[in-house]
Amino acid sequence: MRIGFLGAGKMAEAILAALIRSRVASAARIRICDVVPARRADLRRRYGVRVADTATDLVRASDVVFLAVKPQDLDQLLTHVAPALAPRHVVISIAAGKTLAQLQKLAGRQVRLVRVMPNLAVMVGEGMSAFCLGRRAVPADRKLAARLLGCCGRVVEIREKHFDAVTALSGSGPAFFTYLLVALADAAVAEGLPAADARLLAEQTMLGAARYLLETGIEPEELIRAVASPKGTTAAGLKELERPAVRRTLARTIRAAARRSRELSHG
Ligand SMILES: NC(=O)c1ccc[n+]([C@@H]2O[C@H](COP(=O)([O-])OP(=O)(O)OC[C@H]3O[C@@H](n4cnc5c(N)ncnc54)[C@H](OP(=O)(O)O)[C@@H]3O)[C@@H](O)[C@H]2O)c1
Repeated sequence: MRIGFLGAGKMAEAILAALIRSRVASAARIRICDVVPARRADLRRRYGVRVADTATDLVRASDVVFLAVKPQDLDQLLTHVAPALAPRHVVISIAAGKTLAQLQKLAGRQVRLVRVMPNLAVMVGEGMSAFCLGRRAVPADRKLAARLLGCCGRVVEIREKHFDAVTALSGSGPAFFTYLLVALADAAVAEGLPAADARLLAEQTMLGAARYLLETGIEPEELIRAVASPKGTTAAGLKELERPAVRRTLARTIRAAARRSRELSHG
């Protein structure tokens, strides 16, 4: 299987590095194409991947094509390479806000498409990617998408109508969780903790809580109960946190991000 990346920016690099690291694909089977010559040379030097001179050359020499340019560059690029797309191709778009209908219209009705919403954490192998299949995709494409994206984090298949909520929760989520982390760490600094210690404690605690939930499979409420003994320190803190206004603000945060995602997708 030959894998091509149209656009070799931050996300493309994160995915191709994970593919090579996890031996899902060798560097010799990966091609990139980018408008920036220095970027092409840099990735070739650091990963040993091949470089295609043009986007059409890349498509012709690939079986799987990742669309990894910014959304505003995608329409023109996809229209340009569409004539080179054949039934063997699986086209995987990671462009935020580009719907399957929009992609299908540009790529051609017969093209096998996968739409993905990854997040920033693919860069450290802890990404969360949600995907959905286009009308022409076959069941094997589901397995392929899960395998390719699974090497840089967790993967879930969702219905396309849920993409805006996913964009709000896991796409924008790294920023929201980090905001909470900073607020909690700052409050600990106000209690006298040195800032560097507060940051490490907050980061590792967020990571630890998430891993604990993922690895034990327990309900979040159960974790909270396990930490909060009656009348203890956690219970005292939770009493403040559990005010309805806090939950309302968090709900508004997700709603606003999802609404903006809808606006960006549908104009
Ligand atoms: N970053 C995130 O956290 C994140 C999360 C979810 C989804 N995404 C999606 O991932 C995609 C890539 O994002 P990114 O952060 O990796 O962007 P990026 O770093 O800007 O990478 C895109 C690369 O593609 C190049 N490019 C533009 N037009 C091209 C063309 N016609 N042919 C070949 N290369 C072209 C760009 O060159 P120039 O710089 O010269 O334009 C740039 O080097 C976006 O669609 C974004 O919506 C990103």
